[in-house]
Amino acid sequence: MNKKLGMSLVMLAAGLLFAGCNPPEKVEAVKVVKIADGEIDPAEWGKAYPVHYDLWKKTEEPTEPGKSKYKKGFDADNITYDKLSEFPYMALLFNGWGFGVEYNEPRGHAYMLKDQVEIDPSRVAAGGVCLTCKTPYAPKLEKEKGFDYYSKPWDEVRHMIPEKHQELGVACIDCHDSKDMSLKLSREFTLGEALKAMNVDRAKLSHQEMRSLVCAQCHVTYNIPKDENKKSVGIYFPWQGSSWGDISVENIIKQIRADKSVGEWTQKVTGYKMPFMRHPEFELYSRSSVHWMAGVACADCHMPYTKVGANKVSDHRVTSPLKNDLKACQQCHTETPEWLRNQVTAIQDRTVSMMIRSGYATAAVAKLIEKVHALQAEGKEIDQKLYEQAKDFYMEAFFRSLYIGAENSVGFHNPTEAMRILGDSTAFAMKAEALLRQALTKAGVEVPVTVNLELDKYLNERGKKKLMEQKGVEIKDPFGVQDKLVDVQLNGGK
Ligand code: HEC
Ligand code: HEC
Ligand code: HEC
Ligand code: HEC
Repeated sequence: MNKKLGMSLVMLAAGLLFAGCNPPEKVEAVKVVKIADGEIDPAEWGKAYPVHYDLWKKTEEPTEPGKSKYKKGFDADNITYDKLSEFPYMALLFNGWGFGVEYNEPRGHAYMLKDQVEIDPSRVAAGGVCLTCKTPYAPKLEKEKGFDYYSKPWDEVRHMIPEKHQELGVACIDCHDSKDMSLKLSREFTLGEALKAMNVDRAKLSHQEMRSLVCAQCHVTYNIPKDENKKSVGIYFPWQGSSWGDISVENIIKQIRADKSVGEWTQKVTGYKMPFMRHPEFELYSRSSVHWMAGVACADCHMPYTKVGANKVSDHRVTSPLKNDLKACQQCHTETPEWLRNQVTAIQDRTVSMMIRSGYATAAVAKLIEKVHALQAEGKEIDQKLYEQAKDFYMEAFFRSLYIGAENSVGFHNPTEAMRILGDSTAFAMKAEALLRQALTKAGVEVPVTVNLELDKYLNERGKKKLMEQKGVEIKDPFGVQDKLVDVQLNGGK
């Protein structure tokens, strides 16, 4: 197949180039229509591409429940499934700012800005900068307003958006060039800069790579530097020191721990000023996962080709492949949807088992650090060397656990890498706990075998309710191992 032919519209099955897949069906190509330069309104694009517009609009429809074990959408009370009540250790670790108050699972693209309007205001306290991944107006506002875009209150900046688009999420212009519909990055000030930091030669990026990079404009971790008045002064992806296809959690941690301007919040339990990590889908996926190495792009799994009338088009109703009955996977895999779904769930179960192990181990360390601080406040001498080393290991454990907890595929995007990271997290936490116990023993303080996490203190009403429902099961570890390890912690050893 001639690669040039496939530039954008004609070769609909770029993902099927490698061995093992069936050649794509012959289909009618979508006719290219030029859209007015800089047009943001999707309805205008929709006049030229009604099929795509309709699919794109469908992201506002609720997805069928019950198809995905970990991405259920709405729970029994009809509220969005959230991480804090599902994984109570997160409520403890994130206590101190917005993410500890409300941390919902993602939903359809149509909701990105609406959900921000409805979320607890503490989550957008950083200012206008929070709009970077939520509105197609972000590049324009950043260019025109500069410092004000980042630092002014979120609602004030949102009102700089034309009224009818104040709830509009990702739009055509975020991913497409209006003149020929080819894929184009709109976030030069974030992703563009991050690619520069890794010395990526943009001219050499393949079409398949672009089918992932349009998503990497938002599905990545980022940090918000602050000035001395705690005003947001920018936003960047911590990819310094990394390279294409090799953005490691180690390099990210190194970067954000070294950059003192990104201490965005203070963790209540430890009192530490910390940076944060968000949804590193692109980073985890592109670090030598089996699918990435096989040349598969985000769009292959989340925007599979779908037939609408005579056209075969990329499904612009972007969602979980499980909610689309694994049609995406079947472009390449011959197994049944049941088999594929079971594979996904098996990978996710293992990831969750390790994730809660690392999460509770890290939470136990946080509580010991709290204890040390309380003793120090009473004037007790604590071995500084042991403490500093424990603190260092705690940070390493915390960020690794955070990284996989924030990544939205529950390990599927890169199962072995996710397990490696969680294994390291747990090892760091265990070592930190041992050091703190040593320091406390040295100071003549006795520590009980099980550290009481006092989760009741951190969970909101919803989290407490869920926890009560789970009494006896305690931690929902798919493999049961956790019950033994942390059951006592939840009950405070009772
Ligand atoms: C402009 C930023 C932006 C871009 C570009 C973007 N996303 Fe998203 N995506 C989001 C946000 C924000 C959410 C969460 C929305 C919410 O919960 O309100 C989300 C949610 C999702 C979801 C969850 C949907 C559901 O039904 O629960 C998937 C899957 C997803 N995105 C995949 C992708 C893929 C694949 C691409 C590239 C083709 C992409 N996204 C491009 C910002 C973006
Ligand atoms: C090989 C297929 C595949 C590829 C490639 C892939 N994903 Fe996924 N993705 C999945 C599966 C499977 C899930 C888990 C969905 C579930 O549990 O319901 C998922 C989950 C997600 C979610 C969370 C969905 C939700 O409903 O909350 C987001 C967001 C996401 N992927 C974005 C991306 C981005 C961005 C890329 C590229 C960097 C990417 N994916 C590449 C298969 C893939
Ligand atoms: C999150 C990114 C994203 C958004 C938003 C988006 N698209 Fe696309 N679009 C893609 C990707 C990826 C492809 C596949 C392109 C390819 O492989 O060349 C695509 C393909 C297309 C194509 C080519 C035919 C096809 O189906 O593959 C058309 C036409 C199109 N999109 C129209 C639109 C319109 C109209 C909108 C807004 C209503 C829109 N797109 C919004 C990512 C996006
Ligand atoms: C564009 C093609 C393509 C798509 C789409 C795709 N895969 Fe794959 N998948 C591959 C290739 C190629 C491999 C590597 C197979 C090999 O080397 O034997 C692979 C490997 C796998 C493996 C084995 C992974 C491992 O670690 O060994 C699983 C499980 C899997 N895919 C599931 C899925 C699921 C589930 C989906 C849909 C959400 C999906 N794939 C979508 C091409 C694809």
